Amino acid sequence: MRINIVYWSGTGNTKAMAELIQQGAQDAGAAVTLTEVSSADASAALDADVVALGCPSMGSEVLEESEFEPFIVSIEGSVGGKKLALFGSYGWGIGEWMRDWGERMKKAGAELVVESLIVNDEPRDNTARQCIDFGAAIAR
Ligand SMILES: Cc1cc2nc3c(=O)[nH]c(=O)nc-3n(C[C@H](O)[C@H](O)[C@H](O)COP(=O)(O)O)c2cc1C
Repeated sequence: MRINIVYWSGTGNTKAMAELIQQGAQDAGAAVTLTEVSSADASAALDADVVALGCPSMGSEVLEESEFEPFIVSIEGSVGGKKLALFGSYGWGIGEWMRDWGERMKKAGAELVVESLIVNDEPRDNTARQCIDFGAAIAR
């Protein structure tokens, strides 16, 4: 089982989620690559059994617009039939960006293999555990 994780993180919260997800997936036996979106290649990123994508809520309940949104645009035409898992950190909202993002990926033909994971600010205690469990779940 090969998993690629691609993320954007401004202040490190989504990065911390990505690292915990990597840990959970590796502990479950998967081979995992972790890549910041600024150095991700669209076709290489999709070359895995499961692709986990992480981005916090930015702007006003949207994906980060200068690097992550263009990356999503670049893969959107190729995610049909692909297994994806979405995650990200947020501050004060109620997760609208993640709902919109999930619907967008499903409309593009992707399968979301687990329920998307949102964490308020940095993952700690229970939410850190949720990240590890998310990693284990996508490695199944
Ligand atoms: C420019 C900007 C816009 C943001 N917009 C939202 C928002 O619309 N809704 C929300 O819940 N949080 C919003 N946040 C808060 C971030 O989602 C939150 O701080 C998150 O933990 C950042 O994750 P990161 O450390 O991975 O960058 C915003 C933060 C910034 C800097």
